Amino acid sequence: MDLWKRLADKAAAVDARAISALFEGSGRASEFSARLGEMLFDYSKTNIDGETREMLIGLADAAGVAERRTAMFSGEKINETEGRAVLHTLLRTPAGAAPAGLDEAHEGVLQTLDRMAAFADDVRAGRFSGQGGKITDVINIGIGGSDLGPVMATLALAPHADGPRCHFVSNVDGAHIHDTLKGLDPATTLVIVASKTFTTIETMTNAATARDWMAETVAHPGAQFAALSSAGAKTAEFGIAAERVFGFEDWVGGRYSVWGPIGLSLMLAVGPGDFRAFLAGGHAMDTHFREAPFAENLPVLLALIGIWHAQILGHASRAVLPYDQRLARLPAYLQQLEMESNGKRVTMDGADAPHPTGPIVWGEPGTNGQHAFYQLIHQGTRVVPCEFLLAARGHEPDLAHHHRLLVANALAQSKALMRGRSLAEAREIAAAQGYEGAELDRQARHRVFPGNRPSTTLIYPQLTPHVLGQIVALYEHRVFVEGVILGINSFDQWGVELGKELAKTLEPILATGAGADALDGSTRQLVDYVRKAAGE
Ligand code: F6P
Repeated sequence: MDLWKRLADKAAAVDARAISALFEGSGRASEFSARLGEMLFDYSKTNIDGETREMLIGLADAAGVAERRTAMFSGEKINETEGRAVLHTLLRTPAGAAPAGLDEAHEGVLQTLDRMAAFADDVRAGRFSGQGGKITDVINIGIGGSDLGPVMATLALAPHADGPRCHFVSNVDGAHIHDTLKGLDPATTLVIVASKTFTTIETMTNAATARDWMAETVAHPGAQFAALSSAGAKTAEFGIAAERVFGFEDWVGGRYSVWGPIGLSLMLAVGPGDFRAFLAGGHAMDTHFREAPFAENLPVLLALIGIWHAQILGHASRAVLPYDQRLARLPAYLQQLEMESNGKRVTMDGADAPHPTGPIVWGEPGTNGQHAFYQLIHQGTRVVPCEFLLAARGHEPDLAHHHRLLVANALAQSKALMRGRSLAEAREIAAAQGYEGAELDRQARHRVFPGNRPSTTLIYPQLTPHVLGQIVALYEHRVFVEGVILGINSFDQWGVELGKELAKTLEPILATGAGADALDGSTRQLVDYVRKAAGE
């Protein structure tokens, strides 16, 4: 029988089974966990049993995950709709370890990395300075993959930051660049224009505004600009000298690009040594992903759990819940990684996707989320599988009691989700609060937690550059495996195009009003509103 059907039957059979019952008299916690070095991934608080795991692994086998993995790492053009290879893994491959046939491409990567490191060292040491002295501030102007990775990682590695302050401007909303430039000194600021294509309207608009801002104060604004891009000719047109242009190939997708030149702001903040440790963490995860059997393979397991929850059980979203404040931007980063990659409607051959595709990903750090949306996670009618991330140690030894509370909360949440609170327990609580009779019944029902809500926990000793690299690569490969199982192309993003095209046609209509008559009624009404408010 078809494995998808068998899994659906299995899901129907086990749906009401208590997850907590799976622990009775067993070594479930260790049997349903996997490790990479000191990192531990515990998925025992899901409703997956040994048979389900085997069936899910069968699904990965049948989809050809191992073959596609080999194809990806060896540089085959697996991004078939754009005719491109997918080789971001090469950006974090150490010298001497390039896969067969990729030596030349790897050599280019290593040379660029060395150039980035030399530039970062110069900036950090003051050998490269602004027209008013040592660089104190760096502004990375980019959007999507040219922003979210560096933003997320720079915050994550704040304890390692000893370079210039880094700021990030992404939104075309003038408020973003206005508020960022306020208070900065153009004479000691380095502006990095991060855009793979060097055509993205938001980035080019912000870059031009930053250049005008700088030109008001310094004689040679272009001298304090660097570019991270695959489009060398366009960076020259913009006026950025080739020595400060750091390029990468078309086989690095935007949302997979933090490992190369797009990570320059991170490197400036933490230094080349820590940046290389971040790459080493990513590479360690690559090696694990390539070598570990599926039943012990963290990215594969994370993907199979994702498939079980989203496609088999039909839970439309999943929450990423880092109990690690410095991973505050991880959910936003993963939204692009997962939803731009796997939010597709057709399979590789163009047929309608037979299963729902990428889940909706959202989240916030704990404990803040507890005081916002956890109510729905615990008592709402929809099940939201939760993915907790947790560092055993913080970076603030003087505040160890804070960290203990943080950990206690993380563990309490996954336990509460699994265990719930029965009506009998709720009645006792309501009775102790003085309720009686019918009112006791009513009050008790509001205090019931259904429980049996699945979660996983990824725990690591401390959020170091190496661990961050492992985490990011873990999620990248998870997305890849889910994409292969769903039969879709995880590496294009045609779905972002239509809105961009329409924005281009609407901008002149907003400016002059000409052509507004041809718009649909709603859009026309909104255009008229804006033009009237602007006094046009
Ligand atoms: O929004 C689509 C997208 O192409 C993303 O995939 C990409 O990360 C982002 O825009 C930025 O693109 P670029 O680096 O070319 O400016």
